[in-house]
Amino acid sequence: MAAAAPVLSVQDLSVEFHGDGGWLTAIRNVSFDIGPRECLGIVGESGSGKSVSALSILRLHARTTSRVPSGRILFGGRDLLTLPERELRRIRGAEIAMIFQDPMSSLNPVLTIADQIMEPLRLHQGLDRAAARQRAIALLDLVRIPDAGRRIDDYPHRLSGGMRQRVVIAIAIACQPKLLIADEPTTALDVTIQSQILQLLKDLQAELDMSVALITHDMGVIAQFADRVIVMYAGQVIESAPVLPLFDQPMHPYTNGLLAAIPRLEGVPGRLSSIPGSIPDPAQQIAGCRFNPRCPEALPACRQRAPDLAPAGTGRLSRFPPRLSNLVHNAP
Ligand SMILES: Nc1ncnc2c1ncn2[C@@H]1O[C@H](COP(=O)(O)OP(=O)(O)O)[C@@H](O)[C@H]1O
Ligand code: SF4
Ligand SMILES: [Mg+2]
Repeated sequence: MAAAAPVLSVQDLSVEFHGDGGWLTAIRNVSFDIGPRECLGIVGESGSGKSVSALSILRLHARTTSRVPSGRILFGGRDLLTLPERELRRIRGAEIAMIFQDPMSSLNPVLTIADQIMEPLRLHQGLDRAAARQRAIALLDLVRIPDAGRRIDDYPHRLSGGMRQRVVIAIAIACQPKLLIADEPTTALDVTIQSQILQLLKDLQAELDMSVALITHDMGVIAQFADRVIVMYAGQVIESAPVLPLFDQPMHPYTNGLLAAIPRLEGVPGRLSSIPGSIPDPAQQIAGCRFNPRCPEALPACRQRAPDLAPAGTGRLSRFPPRLSNLVHNAP
């Protein structure tokens, strides 16, 4: 059976920013698809290029300081990178919605929740005030905010962090987007609230038939909520796989490092493993494999040539140095 056409297809995307030393590459040749009703996890340490990739989808980088030397972002048969701004505005917040880490900075403190949820409904769906208010109350119910009819007239500061993030989600799903991009949506919240919000996203995904791109630095979040995962490091995709095989048999040493950093809930209390060193910034020149300065399995050959992303079993890709794969990690 042929796989369903992806809802979004990012192809060979590179993004550069202008810095002191000229143009620097933040992400390079990134490709991934998101299928219908799929939750794609995008994981990697801070600085690996997750947000740059996500923001590029809706062209949210400043035009004066960023450029896109290569890539296509196909959505509904159109390339979002070349779409006229007017048409892209119709997609933003309607067909593709985004939520970010910090609910407070996503909400306007001087507007009531009603005003903020009603705005996209009036803008994109042309509802009048009364209809938009009714729909806004229904949306608060949908994101499980108790007593929605009363809460709707509150200002954001009257709500807890978790409730505010529910409001942000209500705004994001107001126009029933085909794709919801959630960039570290729970990082600012405490652990119990985190899992409630992630469960809510999962429920809404099924109820609304949405696709979700879930961005996180936390493999634990990926394990619980993603169907498939791409692992990013230093601006590149270094491995992609369905979640279960990735956890069963990670192929890339960086993926191994991220998995070892998941805090254990049971068993012997141990030191939280983390990968030594830190992620290189875009200005750093690295010969060969970009992970080699931190890789516990690095060989001299790893500094000679950058490994390509290659097929690595059913639905999987991983970076193996060509012709060296018998020397290094888990070649298929
Ligand atoms: N607006 C920007 N200008 C210059 N560099 C940026 C900008 N946004 C991100 N970067 C750089 O791009 C790299 C990837 O960042 P980002 O995608 O935000 O990482 P993360 O995986 O934590 O979301 C980082 O080195 C970051 O410093
Ligand atoms: S190519 Fe070499 S340095 Fe890079 S991840 Fe594999 S073993 Fe490590
Ligand atoms: Mg980020």
